[in-house]
Amino acid sequence: MTMPINTSSSPSAYPDPSSALPAGLPDPAMLTRLANEFFAALPGSAPTSGVPGSAPSEFAAAAPALPSSTNPVPPGSPLAGPGGAGTGVPGVAIPQGKIPGANLAPSAPTHVLSLGNRAPGLLPHATAQNGLPDNLVTVAPALDSRYGGTALGVPQATAANVPTEGLPGRSNASPYYFLNLATPPAYSPEGASPSAISALDLFAVPSTVPGDVPESATPPHATPFGLPRGMTDTASAQPDTTGRYFLDDIRSPGTPASGRASEPVVPAQSAHPPFDVNAIRRDFPILQERVNGRQLVWFDNAATTQKPQSMIDRLAYFYRHENSNIHRAAHALAGRATDAYEAARSKVQRYIGASQSEEIVFVRGTTEAINLVAKSWGVQNVGAGDEIIVSHLEHHANIVPWQQLASLTGAKLRVIPVDDSGQVLLEEYSRLLNDRTRIVSVTQVSNALGTVVPVKEIIELAHRAGAVALIDGAQSVSHMRVDVQALDADFFVFSGHKVFGPTGIGVVYGKRALLDAMPPWQGGGNMISDVTFERTSFQPAPHRFEAGTGNIADAVGLGAALDYVTRVGIENIARYEHELLSYATQLMKPIPGVRLIGTAQDKASVLSFVLNGYTPEEVGRALSEEGIAVRAGHHCAQPILRRFGLEATVRPSLAFYNTPDEVDRMIAVVQRLAKH
Ligand code: ALA
Repeated sequence: MTMPINTSSSPSAYPDPSSALPAGLPDPAMLTRLANEFFAALPGSAPTSGVPGSAPSEFAAAAPALPSSTNPVPPGSPLAGPGGAGTGVPGVAIPQGKIPGANLAPSAPTHVLSLGNRAPGLLPHATAQNGLPDNLVTVAPALDSRYGGTALGVPQATAANVPTEGLPGRSNASPYYFLNLATPPAYSPEGASPSAISALDLFAVPSTVPGDVPESATPPHATPFGLPRGMTDTASAQPDTTGRYFLDDIRSPGTPASGRASEPVVPAQSAHPPFDVNAIRRDFPILQERVNGRQLVWFDNAATTQKPQSMIDRLAYFYRHENSNIHRAAHALAGRATDAYEAARSKVQRYIGASQSEEIVFVRGTTEAINLVAKSWGVQNVGAGDEIIVSHLEHHANIVPWQQLASLTGAKLRVIPVDDSGQVLLEEYSRLLNDRTRIVSVTQVSNALGTVVPVKEIIELAHRAGAVALIDGAQSVSHMRVDVQALDADFFVFSGHKVFGPTGIGVVYGKRALLDAMPPWQGGGNMISDVTFERTSFQPAPHRFEAGTGNIADAVGLGAALDYVTRVGIENIARYEHELLSYATQLMKPIPGVRLIGTAQDKASVLSFVLNGYTPEEVGRALSEEGIAVRAGHHCAQPILRRFGLEATVRPSLAFYNTPDEVDRMIAVVQRLAKH
């Protein structure tokens, strides 16, 4: 009798595994039956009726819980915590020097074997809580990947799709390959999407480098876009000394007055190539979406950015040709995945100007990044009476982890105030610094107001006081050049999805000496160099901070996104966005009932506002009805909104694929609401 191995209601979807077995291998059905008889005989197993496997439903009822993931630490154990180990108190880090397992050292009062009473799972060959001895799992053939190719419905022929010879691009002499097997070509954008014409092809010059931007190609508040037909410039009450707001002489030659978005924009006296926003837009397929019958306008870039085709292609390429866990020497795909992952690390390093790739730790995002620093560096270096400084502008992710650290250690949280424009008050900041200040953690760009914070000065003052400085770059990396060495930042953190990369991947940059001195904050695979039951030694940075299987594909995707931004040129992006934000500000400001929230001289991307007579949610809904996506709410930054007497704002946030025409569409909706 052949016994079905799945419990699906449509067993025919799964072919009989034994029919595909090479001769000489044991019959998995037989092994399954033996295993189930064994499990059924174990003390505590539910009695079974009939012959296991005589019908799929019976089999399902009789089957034991094959290795389900359970907390190996019994409830009530002093070792038990939310994740199976830890302090047992959610949100409370294990204090430095009390790494789980440290008490297992032979010198500890409790001998390792006696822990078996409290945590049987720690004993070698112990019986797990499901009653399954850990050395018997291997008899469960349904879970054995040797048979998976057929049993799990994966066509064996897939491998034939992988080119095996004559492929360019990857050298067999690569130091990264331990197996001398034929490999597919290293990913290249051209290879991935041969038919696509990218906006990048339209840039005839190499990407720009720091320092090549003229200080002021346009007057500080001027835009090259002009006002929409029929509008007068009532907003620009204070033209600059040249009087050149929206003047034709800063248009690209030949650009019609009304043709703002349809023609390349050339700032006056620019030595740079034209920024063809329409060509850029063709690289972002989602921008063609229609929402409520209108073409999507994506003005929610501070929440997340849209993705270029090259990044999407890179992710697909990874899963088609490289997918593996990253243990380089194990086999060919592991080598490819490791190469791709480490190449992404190097791309991040170059993008933010770090001196070495070992200073780049991959995490899930900015929130996890700040938590890592607070729970590792913070627990090690901050004690009772010490002080932590943040600014009033911070996102909750740059407040809560420091509050948790303060309540754990007895440290104090101090806050740099802002003025009415939403800019930090540097003098007040200087007064907060003292010899108890351990860390200053501030955002580079406010997600709620768009304020560009003078982080270089903030870092310098922190250093003079003997403190370290962390910069939250979540809202800056997609809008301006970041150079962590020029800033002298000790830590710099950001999220991949805010810079045209995938969600679930982010970065901690830390100066090498700091990372080397920090304890790991999570334990597990990949981050160790050796484990015994007595003690564990850890990998150097960055791997010691990357416990478990990381987000490999999305790190690779982030690398592709940074390649894209680099090829467009971050200075080109910064200049275009500055002009677009000025344009939008000039149009929004004079609308009756509009109050702009965040009016600092130096801003990026964000145009927060409220409108008399409407809640932010109502404005957000009205915009959405016209296909325009903005965030309306507290933006995870309640303290700064309350500083302005508000609980919520409407927050359009721009990126370099947005256009003046899109701004016009948004303005038209707000004007219509304002009239009612
Ligand atoms: N931090 C993101 C925002 O500002 C989610 O919307």
